[in-house]
Amino acid sequence: MARFPENFLWGGATSAAQIEGGRCEDGKGLSHLDYVYFRGAKIPCNFMLTENLNKALAEEATLNFPNRRGIDFYHRYKEDIALLAEMGFKSFRMSISWTRLFPTGREEKPCPEGVEFYHKVFRELRKYGIEPLVTMIHYELPIGFVEEFNGWESPKIIPYCFRYMKFIMDEYKDEVTYWLTFNEINMVTAVPWLGGGILLDRDRPVQLPKSMRGPGPIPPEMEARWNQVSHQALHHQFIASAMIVKYAHDTAPQCRIGNMFNLHHLYPETPSPRDAFRAHEESEYNMFFCDVMAKGYYPKWILSYYKRHNIKIDWYDGYEEILANGRVDFISLSYYLSSVVTGDPARQERIGSFIRRLQNPCLETSEFGWQIDPTALRISLNELRDRFDLPIYIVENGLGAFETLGEDKTVHDDYRIAYLRSHIEAIGQAIEDGVDVIGYTPWGCIDLVSCSLVSMSKRYGFVYVDADDEGNGSYDRYRKDSFYWYQKVIASNGEDLD
Ligand code: BG6
Repeated sequence: MARFPENFLWGGATSAAQIEGGRCEDGKGLSHLDYVYFRGAKIPCNFMLTENLNKALAEEATLNFPNRRGIDFYHRYKEDIALLAEMGFKSFRMSISWTRLFPTGREEKPCPEGVEFYHKVFRELRKYGIEPLVTMIHYELPIGFVEEFNGWESPKIIPYCFRYMKFIMDEYKDEVTYWLTFNEINMVTAVPWLGGGILLDRDRPVQLPKSMRGPGPIPPEMEARWNQVSHQALHHQFIASAMIVKYAHDTAPQCRIGNMFNLHHLYPETPSPRDAFRAHEESEYNMFFCDVMAKGYYPKWILSYYKRHNIKIDWYDGYEEILANGRVDFISLSYYLSSVVTGDPARQERIGSFIRRLQNPCLETSEFGWQIDPTALRISLNELRDRFDLPIYIVENGLGAFETLGEDKTVHDDYRIAYLRSHIEAIGQAIEDGVDVIGYTPWGCIDLVSCSLVSMSKRYGFVYVDADDEGNGSYDRYRKDSFYWYQKVIASNGEDLD
C-alpha cells in the first residue's frame, strides 16, 4: 500500500532574503538581514550586536552582504520555476519580502512593482500546477524598525506588521491557499537579532557574548536581558500572528494558515533523573511555541518557567482573546538535527550554528556539525500528532554541504540523496504510524544564501547555482544528481527512493 497520500505536497523551500537579490530595485527597501555581512564560510554571523550594525552602516560600501544579491531569483524566477516544475514539484515554499512591498514599513500604500512581482511569481507557479506556500515573515523586518523599536522588542511594530500581513492576505488570497505567519517563531528566543531584529546590547555596552566566539556559557548579564527581551518580543509575534490568523479565517476561509517552528528533538545524556528532567523541560520548551499558536493559550508550566527565570512579560489587555481566536489550521516545522541534553550547565558544546548542547556519539555529523537523525523526526511527528491532532506540513529539512561544480557540469551529491532518503523513509513510517503529514518541502531546493553563515558556500540544493561568497560567478543553474533522484521520488509519490 502506498504510504504517502495521493495529493501529498512534494516540493522545496526558500525565503525571499536568501534568494531574491534585486536589492533596492523597483523601490525595495532594506531589511535587517541586508545588514548582516559575510565573515567567513564557517562563521555564524546572524547574531549581531550594535557594534556589528554600526560597522555595517559605516562600511556599507566595502563589506560583503550576500543577502543583497541572493541568487538573483528576482530576475531569474521563470527559469527557476521551470526547473522546479521539471522535478515535478507540487508545492513551492517562498516568502514575501516586507520591504519589497513596504520599503520602510511605514508606507500607507505598497510599492506597485513589488506587488506585481509576487503576482508574476504566483502566476508562473500556477502555470505548472505548483501550489505556493507563502511565509509572511521569514525573519525580515524593515531596518528602520531596528533603530526605532529595537525590532520586535516593542509592541509598536505590531500595527505595521499587521498592515503588511493584512495587505498580502487581501491581495493574494485567491492565488495562495497555504500560508505561514512567522518562520521559526522560536528563533527570536534563540537568536534575537535573526528572529526579531533585536540588538541585545542596545541599552548599554556589553562584551561580545562568548556564544559568538565558540563554546562556553553566555555571560550572566547578557543572559538575563536576552531572556527578558526575547520572550517579550515573542509575545508580540504571537499576538501579530494570531491577529492575522483570525483575519484570514474571517476573510479568506478557503485559505489554510499555519505556524512554523524549528523542531529540535532532545535526548537525555544519561538515565539520571537530572538529565531526564532537563531533556523533558527543553522538549516542552520547544513545543510551547506550537502550544500557544495551535491551542490559543500559554500553558501553565511555561508561566512558572518564566517565573523561575525571572522573565516578566507585559501581557496587554485582551491578549488572551486574541490568542484564543487565532489558532492555526496546521502545524508546520523545520527539522534538521537532534541533540543531547545534560543537566550539568557547565558541560555544553555548540551544536549546529546556534544551539549549545552535547553531541550524540551514536549519530553521524554533517561537515557543518549538524547531527543526522531521521528517527528523531519520526518520534517527534508522533508526539506532535498526540499533542495537537492537526495536519503537519514539514516545510524545511535538508543537508548543507560545501560543493563545487564538476567538469561534467554537475554535482554528484550522493550524501544529500542519502540524507533525504532516510528522512523521507522516516516520514513514510510516521504516516504509517497514523500521523497526518500533508507535505514535504526540503530546504534550499535551489542553492541559496545560508542563513546562519550568510554564505553561498553552504549549499542545500537539487540545483547548483554558480555563485561564490563574494558574488563572483555566472549565476547559471545546473542540475545535481539529487535533482534526478528527487524527480523520481516525486513521480513515484515517495515509493522509489533508490
Ligand atoms: C532555518 C531557516 O533555520 O534553517 C532558513 O528557516 C535557513 O532560513 C535554514 O537557511 C538552514 O540554515 P543555514 O544556516 O544552514 O542556512
